[in-house]
Amino acid sequence: ARQVPDLLSPEFAADPYPAYRVLRESAPLHWHEATGSYVISRYEDVERVFKDRDGEFTTENYAWQVEPVHGRTILSLSGREHAVRRALVAPAFRGRDLQERFLPVIERDSRELIDAFRHTGSADLVTEYATRFPINVIVDMLGLDKADHARFHRWYTSVIAYLGNLSGDPEVTAAGERTREEFAAYLLPIVRERRDNLGDDLLSTLCAAQVDGVQMSDEDIKAFCSLLLAAGGETTDKAIASVFANLLRHPDQLAAVRADRGLVARAFAETLRYTPPVHMIMRQSATEVRLSGGTIPAGATVTCLIGAANRDGDRYRDPDRFDILRDDLTPSTAFSAAADHLAFALGRHFCVGAFLAKAEVETGVNQLLDAMPDMRLADGHEVVEQGVFTRGPRSLRVRFTPVAR
Ligand code: HEM
Repeated sequence: ARQVPDLLSPEFAADPYPAYRVLRESAPLHWHEATGSYVISRYEDVERVFKDRDGEFTTENYAWQVEPVHGRTILSLSGREHAVRRALVAPAFRGRDLQERFLPVIERDSRELIDAFRHTGSADLVTEYATRFPINVIVDMLGLDKADHARFHRWYTSVIAYLGNLSGDPEVTAAGERTREEFAAYLLPIVRERRDNLGDDLLSTLCAAQVDGVQMSDEDIKAFCSLLLAAGGETTDKAIASVFANLLRHPDQLAAVRADRGLVARAFAETLRYTPPVHMIMRQSATEVRLSGGTIPAGATVTCLIGAANRDGDRYRDPDRFDILRDDLTPSTAFSAAADHLAFALGRHFCVGAFLAKAEVETGVNQLLDAMPDMRLADGHEVVEQGVFTRGPRSLRVRFTPVAR
């Protein structure tokens, strides 16, 4: 049997894909001592756990994974309570609300960032664009003060570090918990004030939302907004950067997307399959469950490797090839967010922000292509990906012909 690589080793962090292959082929149900979890990597197994047709899994693991920084949110709820709580927030992220209220915000926030560097001739698309854009969008959607952006970026960075702190660094843990306090002190007075002065922003929508006589408390709203900043910020930032990293490394496909903007949706979908922003999602088993590689006992933690499942040769032809035209992947549409890969998960916890993410990435990609018709990787720049829980390019230096101010 081939040696199963250590998921916390530097080699794994540098390039997890060879390890994913070994896991899929030789150890599809792998006990991982350090995280105390069963690791699964095959498409059919991860899909089955996410869909959870027979109610064999819960998301109780989020009680210890994310509640310490965000408070209690829909992520850790199950059953009817989850359904009602999710229904309170979901409508704001799709359909007419998204198209009419928030698309103009998305377009404006993207343009503001691009205007700051388009006259310079070079930019780092990660630090100057991707890490700022989605968080600015959420702050603006919520109707919070733009002047507080720096503070949001700081909080967001410490929450992300907390969630990715697989080795348990106590300073990172303490900083994450401090952020929870600071965020509550900032947002709770704003929520109370907003309840008396409802406007057209997302925070007002959350204050007013009602399903089956249930409303969100101030604490619920604070926790959900905290989750939004992390769940909607970091993931989308990595998605945009990865779309460009993949296209810049495949110039023929970049040229095709430039020529036919209808292909942007395909570039996004293939990027989510090939280099998903979120690589690991956990679940808790409620009963004994039989998967393709063996049986998981009741009460166990399961780590679903999205990055491995999305490259399963039993699901995709030539899975390690980036190919926006592949015929075994159907991109999501304006009406169906359910894309043909596992990057947004599936089932009850399927990403609530999938349409929003699609709108942000497609708007961003189109605007960046328009602003920089000859964008290319800076000479000598090698794209390095980082992160094992979430993953994306560390930086992306590009050059282009500057426009006059
Ligand atoms: C859930 C990925 C963008 C908000 C999820 C889950 C994944 C995911 C994998 C499932 C978690 C689980 O099953 O345990 C992504 C990716 C994104 C993205 C790859 C970008 C490309 C966004 C955005 C928002 C958002 C923009 C902001 C609205 C959420 C929320 C949940 C969620 C609130 C929890 C849903 C629930 O528990 O019912 N996302 N997400 N996400 N996402 Fe996203």
